[in-house]
Amino acid sequence: MQLQRLSLTQFRNFARLDVKVPEGAVLIVGRNAQGKTSLLEAIYYLATLDSFHAETDRQLINFIEARKPLAVARLQATYHRGMQQHQMEVRIIREQTRNGVDRSRKEVLLDGAKKKAGEVAGQFQAVLFLPQMLQIVEGTPRHRRRYLDSALTQVQSGYGEQLGEYENILSQRNALLKQLSENGGDRNQLDFWDERISHRAAQLLHARFQAVQELDALAGRLHHELTRGAEVLRLNYQPSYDPIPTPAKQRTLIQEPTDRSRVDEGKLESGFLKALEATRGEDVARGSTSIGPHRDELRFLSNGVDLGSYGSRGQVRTTLLTLKLAELDWMQARSGFRPVLLLDEVLAELDQLRRADLLGRLGDKQQVLLTTTDFNLFTPEFLARAKRWEIEEGRLKSGDPIPPASQAPFP
Ligand SMILES: Nc1ncnc2c1ncn2[C@@H]1O[C@H](COP(=O)(O)OP(=O)(O)OP(=O)(O)O)[C@@H](O)[C@H]1O
Ligand SMILES: [Mg+2]
Repeated sequence: MQLQRLSLTQFRNFARLDVKVPEGAVLIVGRNAQGKTSLLEAIYYLATLDSFHAETDRQLINFIEARKPLAVARLQATYHRGMQQHQMEVRIIREQTRNGVDRSRKEVLLDGAKKKAGEVAGQFQAVLFLPQMLQIVEGTPRHRRRYLDSALTQVQSGYGEQLGEYENILSQRNALLKQLSENGGDRNQLDFWDERISHRAAQLLHARFQAVQELDALAGRLHHELTRGAEVLRLNYQPSYDPIPTPAKQRTLIQEPTDRSRVDEGKLESGFLKALEATRGEDVARGSTSIGPHRDELRFLSNGVDLGSYGSRGQVRTTLLTLKLAELDWMQARSGFRPVLLLDEVLAELDQLRRADLLGRLGDKQQVLLTTTDFNLFTPEFLARAKRWEIEEGRLKSGDPIPPASQAPFP
């Protein structure tokens, strides 16, 4: 995957940007609040068609443009996917209906033809590291489920739709459970929803079990290298419905995460349906569904210690970096294309050795865009081979010669 050209119109604080993107490494430098993260956000939006931190697409439209009755932000990209060149255009449109209500929508064009967002997501592939994503390690189970789901959505066609369907059925089942718990009624009404939800749960679990198994192997190897052999990282998926249950008395002794990737989908479906029957009474009493992919947990263990609870800042950051680099290898193994890597303020909080190891890993062939406020964090070797973009108030100033690493931080 190679991004060749990017143009933005009225996207965040970029009124207009049109730039050729070089191969290899691009270092995006600028003071705070100039648009560095927004630029990465724009590129990542082309991969997922969804913003990672805007609550609604309309927040992506430039403030001044957004005052108009019809406001449009436009993202355009030319990229190579293998040998093929493609063009993608996304228009985020906010308009007023006749009765004065604001409405936003998006239009997506791939090679000039209009498409649904779901069809185009994952056509251009990118992996993004953002400091806020430390939440994947430290935050709630929801953050970790989202990490898995968004990785799967980009590489496994149909996963996004299956997830949407599952959530739909779940909310209808929960509505019925609530009604049964408040007003009573015939519990057999649940049969219909139980069958449907089991079908979708099995698809999601099957995909997640495989993804975790593959990511665990890749991340283990990478983490070993990034920590120079000091830490062994394991991904431990903890399902609320477990097709391979661990006997209670063994649970505390078990160090090895269980491999569930070989359980077939049919067995998951029938097992899940049975488990739902067993928890039916509890579910009715609570008025919600107590098992399923929406209740599962994923934990990260370093040398057997849970990083969510006990990780140091540097450990958590290195783990997130490992996960992102593993995602890169994993997506390439699954799709055959190496995604573009987007790293926002990645070097902060890493010690000198880890910084040098990371920069050394980013080979010449990997297209990578990194943001920074501080040159001093980068090694002279890296500065010598990276292209430099300087950003000021949403404008790209052409790159000056790269200063030696010893110079003062970027003003
Ligand atoms: N829709 C929008 N229209 C115009 N400006 C916006 C919009 N959304 C955000 N901004 C502004 O764009 C500026 C750039 O934000 P961004 O997060 O990209 O900065 P940054 O260069 O990454 O800064 P930092 O070094 O602090 O992370 C901010 O001042 C932000 O308030
Ligand atoms: Mg930023």
